[in-house]
Amino acid sequence: MALFLDSADLDAIRSGMQLGIYSGVTTNPGLLRDIPREDRLDHLGAIAKICRKSIYAQVELQAIAKMEREALTLVEVAPGRTIIKVPMSPEGLQLCQKLRSKNVPVCMTALFSPSQVFAAAAAGAYAAAVYVGRLFRKGEDGTGVVRKAAEILRAQEMQTRIIAASIPDIEALNTLMTIPGVDATIPASLQEPFLQHAGTQEAIDEFKKLSSKK
Ligand code: G3P
Repeated sequence: MALFLDSADLDAIRSGMQLGIYSGVTTNPGLLRDIPREDRLDHLGAIAKICRKSIYAQVELQAIAKMEREALTLVEVAPGRTIIKVPMSPEGLQLCQKLRSKNVPVCMTALFSPSQVFAAAAAGAYAAAVYVGRLFRKGEDGTGVVRKAAEILRAQEMQTRIIAASIPDIEALNTLMTIPGVDATIPASLQEPFLQHAGTQEAIDEFKKLSSKK
């Protein structure tokens, strides 16, 4: 599983990337909402300078031709390592094919069902982002949807990566990590529970005491 950081916060990205556990950063208009529109490209550029790995940048919802122009601008933020996120819709799938024909990798996003993941893969998406936490909030089995989608892609020998997004907690992340062929993007707020445990802290405190003993 490749792990991504779902954040547009430069400090969180700086400290997160130093850990060596992330394969890149995923963003979306929600995460960039506090950045004025005219500054967003520069902000993504700043993210790309801090994160030397993959950057996921999402197009705004508008007419296909405009989304395509925006995608071609976004991909220049970090050529060769920018993946364009496109929200799922008939237009989004059309855009996915267009961008694919120009060798621009696409992540179809805001997916809530295995059949949508299949559609994204069939349209040539490099990745497909499933909103796990939002599925749970709708009373559905978020990790179950990812498991089924991953089984379908495997059965159909489709290479599209599934990115589990909107991850609610570590329990969901642990379940997702058991599913072959699935990546995950986690909010900065999950980083601490991902890495820490009360037992580790107790052991560290004990080691500190021992180190200070002469
Ligand atoms: O990457 C998707 C994510 O940012 C949406 O998460 O927590 O708003 O469902 P959430």
